[in-house]
Amino acid sequence: MNKPLVSLLAFAIIFNIASWSWAEEAPPPVKVLVTYHSVSGNTERMAEAVVEGVKLVSGTQAMLKRVGQVTAEDLFSSDAVIVGSPVYWSNMSGEVKTFFDNWQFKFGVFPEFKMKNKVGAAFATGGQISSGKEITMLTILAAMLGNQMIVVSGGGAFGASATTEGDSPGIDKKELADAKALGRRVAEVATLISRASSR
Ligand SMILES: Cc1cc2nc3c(=O)[nH]c(=O)nc-3n(C[C@H](O)[C@H](O)[C@H](O)COP(=O)(O)O)c2cc1C
Repeated sequence: MNKPLVSLLAFAIIFNIASWSWAEEAPPPVKVLVTYHSVSGNTERMAEAVVEGVKLVSGTQAMLKRVGQVTAEDLFSSDAVIVGSPVYWSNMSGEVKTFFDNWQFKFGVFPEFKMKNKVGAAFATGGQISSGKEITMLTILAAMLGNQMIVVSGGGAFGASATTEGDSPGIDKKELADAKALGRRVAEVATLISRASSR
């Protein structure tokens, strides 16, 4: 066999082996579930911006669902869960609370703590400037802490939020940017944890 042909064959073999091993080592995507309750569309707009932020981080996969449509498979296959709620009477809405209650009633998370070490975060929309958005996010984070999840913030101190009524003209660019920043931060933290735990 002539020299150039041998070199070509050797290159082809090495390239193939390299691409096989690369294919084997490619990590599975880091899955981020973004789930929300929304009646008049505000929290849904924030949820969509959170998803945009998740998508900025390579190697991640975002899933957007209303809280009532989340299945056990969605929940348990996710590396991170970001929950959004409208403020109802200075707290999370009943639908979002029912979603968390169903983690036990429908999905049986306890006593094994099946959500343990998944990343969790919150976002909220409220009609008034100071009428419960932070409490809403904190109660969402409290439910996650009770499940031994790793909670993170982003966008704001407790998550991302927007004011939608009264003097506010509705969700503005800054609030959507905060939602995007939250999605990005959660995706980044979930990626770090997933890489560290697969070592
Ligand atoms: C039953 C009910 C209670 C509410 N309570 C509050 C409240 O306590 N504080 C507040 O800022 N907004 C309150 N709001 C306003 C909503 O939080 C606000 O309009 C929110 O952006 C609605 O979200 P959505 O468009 O995703 O449904 C309330 C709305 C409803 C329907």
